[in-house]
Amino acid sequence: MPYITVLRRYLHPCISHGYSNNDYRNNFDEERYVMALRKPFVAGNWKMNNLVGESLALVEALKPLVAGVAAVDMAVCPAYTSLHAVGKALAGTNIQLGAQNAYVKESGAYTGEISPKMLLDVGCAWTIIGHSERRHILGEADAFLNEKLRFSLACGLKVMFCIGELLEERKDGKMESVLERQVVKGLEGMTAADLDNVVIAYEPVWAIGTGETATPDQAEEVHVFVRNLIDKSFGADAASKMRIQYGGSVKPENASDLISRENVDGFLVGGAALKADSFAAIINACA
Ligand code: 13P
Repeated sequence: MPYITVLRRYLHPCISHGYSNNDYRNNFDEERYVMALRKPFVAGNWKMNNLVGESLALVEALKPLVAGVAAVDMAVCPAYTSLHAVGKALAGTNIQLGAQNAYVKESGAYTGEISPKMLLDVGCAWTIIGHSERRHILGEADAFLNEKLRFSLACGLKVMFCIGELLEERKDGKMESVLERQVVKGLEGMTAADLDNVVIAYEPVWAIGTGETATPDQAEEVHVFVRNLIDKSFGADAASKMRIQYGGSVKPENASDLISRENVDGFLVGGAALKADSFAAIINACA
């Protein structure tokens, strides 16, 4: 990552609180400085792809390509059927395991569902909640996603919470109201401390799987908007610490430009995460 980006990312809380240079020097607080560091986080959402053998081949190819990367948090999110095997293959590595969804009960008569406890059992640290494919294809609504998010956190999973507008919503000038609704309703009833285990993934629906990526300016604009929403509801500290990933046709070719923006804190990658070399190149662009 370019030095200037690192500097801006570290200094963000001081800048965002409107301190002048002198105020900044006089008020410099090392603990706050360190607390505000947002380590980039890159996760691969494999969606409904890869049989167990293919999943294992993919992580075995990935491991050596990112073994030396300490400056980026990274995770892969295979389909449920591959989680156990991939979890074992990742033990002791710097790659974390995530699921793509989780239900709101610990166990019981919920045919077809998977509980956070089961995901933790096979080595998951993370789950994705609120992916646009679950919102729009499976019809999951804000209140249900809020329930899922809170239950996953209560069980000890960390959550990548996805938000994003449809193309028509952007064209009709509704983008901000849609994103605000998704953030406010999605995080309802939570505290600033809960947010320590949450990452927000901004994934404009029109950019997912289409090859059409948001420009760095478009991503930065939305990430600033989302960070301000967090500030309004949870305070400046929570806002400055919140990692906001971008997702939607991220590739090795566009990752460097996107991550160079101050408020882009990593990626949630679909298609390009299904090849070890392209996923590793995206991770390395953030290091
Ligand atoms: P693509 O990277 O394939 O556009 O998918 C993005 C995504 O939906 C990740 O969750």
